[in-house]
Amino acid sequence: MKIIMLGAPGAGKGTQAKMIAEKFAIPHISTGDIFRANIKNNTPLGQEAKKYMDEGKLVPDELTVKILLDRVAQDDCKNGYVLDGFPRTIPQAEVLDQELTKLNDQIDYAIDVDVPDENIVKRMSGRRACLTCGATYHIEHIPPKQEGICDKCGSELVQRDDDKEETVLNRLKVYHDQTQPLIDYYTKKNILKTVDGTVDMKDVFAAITAILE
Ligand code: AP5
Ligand code: MG
Ligand code: ZN
Repeated sequence: MKIIMLGAPGAGKGTQAKMIAEKFAIPHISTGDIFRANIKNNTPLGQEAKKYMDEGKLVPDELTVKILLDRVAQDDCKNGYVLDGFPRTIPQAEVLDQELTKLNDQIDYAIDVDVPDENIVKRMSGRRACLTCGATYHIEHIPPKQEGICDKCGSELVQRDDDKEETVLNRLKVYHDQTQPLIDYYTKKNILKTVDGTVDMKDVFAAITAILE
């Protein structure tokens, strides 16, 4: 099963994608997580991506597409995957479709986690992330067992550099300009499914599971 997660920054794509990956035993592939891991390790890719991410802009398509296509070509992706944060532009979606068509394959579902802008800024200010394993928490809604420490791997939790309010507002603008057109794109392909992302994360997951099963 090949799934794409759509939704504004902070809608809960990552939270849901991790649960889907676990339940269906497929890899969770987040381009944002890949970039953040590269920034953490100070690789050339990380240095390049950071320039854009810190301002809430998109990393250029050429760079992002190459990374994603390399990742989905790996062996663990044979039985499917859940993409979180890719595609984010129409050209990215077109390249992915072209590559899949070559393999006689296609995306099964594009799931839009719908959360209005008003809710987003508040969510982001409470988010804490583990840069080691990619786990995400929220200081009010989804707190770690021990403050500041990742439940899964014991690393220190941090606030993401791009979760400052002004950067979040920029990311929302970029989302509406460049990513929201994908809703139409996948509606036309008859694979778009929308779920309400404002309810409890378990209820969001139940709605997604009902679609996938
Ligand atoms: P990326 O890492 O993908 O960030 P994003 O899309 O802005 O999304 P987030 O990770 O911020 O939010 P999310 O939807 O995953 O929400 P989460 O589950 O964490 O990208 C970062 C940057 O990388 C981009 O700005 C860009 O520069 C670059 N980039 C990445 N991919 C790219 C691409 N394809 N092309 C070009 N550039 C690219 O949840 C958010 C918070 O809410 C958490 O605290 C969570 O605990 C909480 N929460 C989740 N669900 C609920 C719920 N139901 N109720 C209450 N709280 C909840
Ligand atoms: Mg995410
Ligand atoms: Zn961790």
